[in-house]
Amino acid sequence: MVISLANRDLITIDDLSNQEIEAVFAQADEIAGSMSAQFGICQGKIMASLFFEPSTRTRLSFEAAMHRLGGRVISVTEMGNTSLAKGESIADMARVVGSYADIIVIRHPWEGAAKVVADYADVPVINAGDGGHEHPSQTLLDLYTLKKERKTLEGLKIALWGDLKYGRTVHSLACALARFGATIHFRPSPGFEMPEHVIRKLTTEYTGRLERYNGPKEGEKGLIPLDAIYVTPSGPHQLANIPAIGIQMELEKGVDALYVTRLQKERLEPAAEGEREKSYPVVDKKLFREKGFGETIIMHPLPRVGELAYEIDADPRSTYFKQAARGVPIRMALLSLLLGAKNVDMPEKKIVSFAQKREYPVYKRDAGIKCQNRKCISVQETEQQYIKHEFQIVSGEPLTLRCIYCEHEIHPPYIASSKWHQGIVEKKRYYRASSFMVGRIRPENLIIFGSEDEAKRQGFKPGKRGKPSGNEKGKMQSEKCDGEKETTRVQARKPAH
Ligand code: NCD
Repeated sequence: MVISLANRDLITIDDLSNQEIEAVFAQADEIAGSMSAQFGICQGKIMASLFFEPSTRTRLSFEAAMHRLGGRVISVTEMGNTSLAKGESIADMARVVGSYADIIVIRHPWEGAAKVVADYADVPVINAGDGGHEHPSQTLLDLYTLKKERKTLEGLKIALWGDLKYGRTVHSLACALARFGATIHFRPSPGFEMPEHVIRKLTTEYTGRLERYNGPKEGEKGLIPLDAIYVTPSGPHQLANIPAIGIQMELEKGVDALYVTRLQKERLEPAAEGEREKSYPVVDKKLFREKGFGETIIMHPLPRVGELAYEIDADPRSTYFKQAARGVPIRMALLSLLLGAKNVDMPEKKIVSFAQKREYPVYKRDAGIKCQNRKCISVQETEQQYIKHEFQIVSGEPLTLRCIYCEHEIHPPYIASSKWHQGIVEKKRYYRASSFMVGRIRPENLIIFGSEDEAKRQGFKPGKRGKPSGNEKGKMQSEKCDGEKETTRVQARKPAH
């Protein structure tokens, strides 16, 4: 079976199926075995390398990859040297760069920036990190390393350690691991737990189940607070077969790999920095001696800044420099496939996938509700003139919208129906999103408000059944971002029928 990835984008790891990921690996294997024979494969092609955030490994390995394929590179490493500094939008930049280059690799601090570039450029786009959102090409080399070191990708046990909140590498990696049927231990530094929207994906779009851990009980050893374990069933579509997890037993059995991340200091509010750095966990020789770590390889996307002691570098289980080196063959494979310079002929083999496809209704209106994530591209001043706010309705109870750019979730407080106010009912009424009315309105007729004022400004009056009661009054809840206030979640009631 021939797999072609020509003209595709890689914005999130879900843009590639498990089979396509295996195809990238097959291509990387071939390349790694004959590096010098690859020169010329991308001759005449130009890669635009746009890095608006610091980078050593990702930028240089992409650029080295393109040079080794015989292609050329044009690059930007500073926002201040581009017209973005003059207030140009990402969309305009994408259109123009797309007309100069055959492929674009972009890293940008705004979440969703790579998606916008892909929406506006006519050439394939690779997301090399969009703020704290995703970093899918890093995931490819992480999975490739796991496959090389562990000989399989299926059914692995991996612990994700450190800053799971802002670490974009672990967001992409957790999803990919779940799709290959992994058990994942979440070991965040306290306060840096995996975000809600990633957890939702893991538990609704892949077949596994999450079990929360509420701190070590007496006699149990907790290395650092283990927040949760994600388990996939022994085969796809066998949800019922997931065994109850004995957390302590799980810990003692150990994991195939410990994936360490640094504190993403650049994404914190300045006030939060000092305190949080002090309590950040360190992987050192002592940890390596713990029960269950005998066979565990240590991975890290790098750079490290103190969370990984130098004393373990010589230990054969330390895999992070090998992992970084694999960035070149993986990115050579990716570039040659997306540019259509190569296709992969794969043997007919059933590739197991634990993904379960979901089609969510879309919420898109010209005016009204916006993403609440201040780091999302859709709320940046320079992008306002063209951006279309768009969400997937991922749940009705409570009403939950997922931004299509950054994937953060919001729980809006008020709703109305466009159908009723277009003459079927006389008066325009709005209701609490937590009332049963949410189940009565078809997604295509739904109007969503971020506040009562917004509903009133648009000429709606409170509907009897949807009246807010006391302190549940109207503030939109969103996933917590650093420095943002948490608001009480309004629980949805079951629809009356
Ligand atoms: C990571 C990144 O930029 O997200 N680094 C990388 O690409 N190798 C991880 C990090 O910076 O901590």
